[in-house]
Amino acid sequence: MMTIAAKSVITPRLSDSFKKIVGEQFVFTDHESLQHYSHDETETLSYLPSVVIKPRTAKEISLILEICNKEKIPVTPRGAGTGLSGGALPHLGGVLLSTERMNSILAIDERNGQVTTEPGVITEVLQDAVKAKGLFYPPDPSSRGSCFIGGNIAENSGGPKAVKYGVVRDYVLNLEVVLPTGEIIWTGANVLKNSTGYNLTQLMVGSEGTLGIVTKIVLKLIPLPKYDLLMLVPFQSLEKAGEAVSAIFRAGFTPSALELVEADALKIVSKLVDSYVVPVNDDVAAHLIIEVDGNHPDVLMKEMEAIAELLVLYDAGEIFFADDAQQKNELWKLRRRVAEAVKMAGYTIEEDTVVPRAELPALIKGVKELGRQNNFHAVCYGHAGDGNLHIRIRKEGLTDSLNDPGMTASLRALFELVKKLGGTISGEHGIGLVQKEYMDIIFNETQLSLMKQIKKVFDPNNILNAGKIFD
Ligand code: LAC
Ligand code: ZN
Repeated sequence: MMTIAAKSVITPRLSDSFKKIVGEQFVFTDHESLQHYSHDETETLSYLPSVVIKPRTAKEISLILEICNKEKIPVTPRGAGTGLSGGALPHLGGVLLSTERMNSILAIDERNGQVTTEPGVITEVLQDAVKAKGLFYPPDPSSRGSCFIGGNIAENSGGPKAVKYGVVRDYVLNLEVVLPTGEIIWTGANVLKNSTGYNLTQLMVGSEGTLGIVTKIVLKLIPLPKYDLLMLVPFQSLEKAGEAVSAIFRAGFTPSALELVEADALKIVSKLVDSYVVPVNDDVAAHLIIEVDGNHPDVLMKEMEAIAELLVLYDAGEIFFADDAQQKNELWKLRRRVAEAVKMAGYTIEEDTVVPRAELPALIKGVKELGRQNNFHAVCYGHAGDGNLHIRIRKEGLTDSLNDPGMTASLRALFELVKKLGGTISGEHGIGLVQKEYMDIIFNETQLSLMKQIKKVFDPNNILNAGKIFD
């Protein structure tokens, strides 16, 4: 990892102003802190901020942004730093604003099925807290054990359950936001339906920390399903596994998860977590992980049997049923840690392509062909039920996607294929720093200009996460 020095300098006077706002002990300029906040999980990229600030309240953030707006200092908001598109990378130096101290769940409203939380709460902590009340917050990115709910909102995260329950966007009712100018607003109301003017709430979701800093979040909750069943299905052909995915929906089933993991990825992750619950035979090319959930176990069993029968038509091999909670956990642990495992194994570049579900086999075929033509090795996994395929790339001597013309050309070809198939370049990780180069494949000048004008209205001095999504 090569760390790039900060471009923006913070004077002692400014540093003192920040200390007055948040307290001396929450402003950091020592090398170790700057280094720690110089990277997220994106490839091997690293940029030093000039200062790290850890505010506790919206009011403190407002005062910090007022100063930065006046002095035109770049500000990079950061949750837990688990992002994969570089949203939290302080590539311009300046202020790195961490929300880690804003970590309280403020209220669980059981009467209305809602939770109000601060942004620095770990997603799984939030899920467990509402689960204790019989309620369900479904979006579950693989990093749910460490990522923050605020970051999930910034990126509009998804995860395996999105295929049945939708993504983060579908659960956000209302947000308190500090604007780049320092003003504090609520974007909507705590209601399930809202046709009152433009939808500022949904504009905020997925805006990657470029329009404001979210300081309070109101989420919709649903009743927790009582039962689930999980199976792992091997296929000798990756493309056949891809074909089976849309067939499941056409036959009338909506699984609560439908994930694809290529055999190479499963082998790598099994080794990393030292788990061999799933034997990966050499003739297996890929697995589908299929979960169904609901309140009637007999119905779920019938559904699973019917899906298993259908999959025989796609040359599925011997199916492994996770029998108990421990096996289910083990299987999900393997799935969740794929990204980390393949990154450690040298697949540093991760793409987040998404195509209409039935085009998945064409995408898989295209990726493999591109790899052969351009000398890279790709491993595929992800949320097949949503047509959302993560593609991790390994190429001799290459650690990131930004500075190699060969790689840039390959990615361009990949995204052009995605576009041709009716898809787009990010389903849940965002554009951030590493994908902005390719936005012109997806959007024309008019569309991009609309987005840039929106950015300008919110952030006239371009201080907040500038240079993310677009230049
Ligand atoms: C996953 C993350 C990387 O699906 O999105 O594992
Ligand atoms: Zn994912």
